[in-house]
Amino acid sequence: MSNLMLPGLVDVHTHLRVPGGEHKEDFTTGTAAALAGGITTVLAMPNTTPPLTTPVVLEETIQKAQHSILCDVGLFAGASPEQIEGVIELSRYTVALKIYLNDTFGPLRVEDLPTLNACFRLWPRQKLIAMHAEGQSVAVGIGLAAAYQRPVHFCHISRKEEIELIAAAKAQRLPVTCEVTPHHLFLTEADADRLGPLGDMRPRLATAKDVAALWAHIHSTIDCIATDHAPHTLEEKQSDGPPPGVAGLETSLPLMLTAVKENRLDLDQLVKLMATNPRRIFKLPLQPDTHIEVDTEAEFSLSNDELQTKCGWTPFAGMNVVGRVRRVVLRGVEVYKDGQIIAEPGSGQVLI
Ligand code: NCD
Ligand code: ZN
Repeated sequence: MSNLMLPGLVDVHTHLRVPGGEHKEDFTTGTAAALAGGITTVLAMPNTTPPLTTPVVLEETIQKAQHSILCDVGLFAGASPEQIEGVIELSRYTVALKIYLNDTFGPLRVEDLPTLNACFRLWPRQKLIAMHAEGQSVAVGIGLAAAYQRPVHFCHISRKEEIELIAAAKAQRLPVTCEVTPHHLFLTEADADRLGPLGDMRPRLATAKDVAALWAHIHSTIDCIATDHAPHTLEEKQSDGPPPGVAGLETSLPLMLTAVKENRLDLDQLVKLMATNPRRIFKLPLQPDTHIEVDTEAEFSLSNDELQTKCGWTPFAGMNVVGRVRRVVLRGVEVYKDGQIIAEPGSGQVLI
């Protein structure tokens, strides 16, 4: 066994489904999945029911989190045209603002320029704005970053033309960053055909050419690996109107370590993409005395049977990987060991 020590990983794109989607995931099961995946900090998305767009909902959600999380959690505020005048209030409860420019799960959407302008004018400058932007919406986000001279982070970039546009914006020193998901790095539209609804998410899986373009930017343009862990029950996925989204917290590190073994990625770059960069970009606090231990020689097949996530399935089932998380220590306390969650509900901290 080869024991690799890494910092606690940071996932800046997780759907913990509280409030309103607790049958898919809740704060305890979602953060258990994070720990099992070597992740000690997650940022939770605001497309909940109701969405995280008012102080009342945020206060209630933070109270629930304080009793139930097993690792550290920060929340995103959601931008919505109806609540835009009060958006600054939301910054008191959250680490960043999320703007959805394109269709995805849930009704949160911003499709008008006045609301976009208001977000960039009103949201406090010391906190980040993250965008769900696909295709030409990426150009909208880059334009806003340039016009308002403030950072924009692009979620789950998946297409060749998108990553190339972000590379061009970075070459002009525009303040933009981006994340890519493991499913867009390891699966293509051929897998979407094979997997049916279990391979459906937003952005949709792309062509082999798009995937190759993402890998070509893995040591340059890409800032973070983010899971976009978006659990839905198997029953929902097999229904007539399946919602988009797949789980990812527990499969992200083994997939990326497999890429390291195959010489597609440096280990140093893995640590930047999964820990150092996300912490710096979102200005998240350091976690003292925190690390994870990984058996880098363990070869195994990803499986639905060993998951902590409530949804209980992964689109990567059957895929052979290396790198098993053996132990997680958070603030000096052992919180995960060999498949067992040791942390007590409420032992994680809510980040603001
Ligand atoms: C996400 C979800 O289910 O909340 N689904 C997805 O396909 N990615 C929403 C999102 O991140 O866009
Ligand atoms: Zn998402």
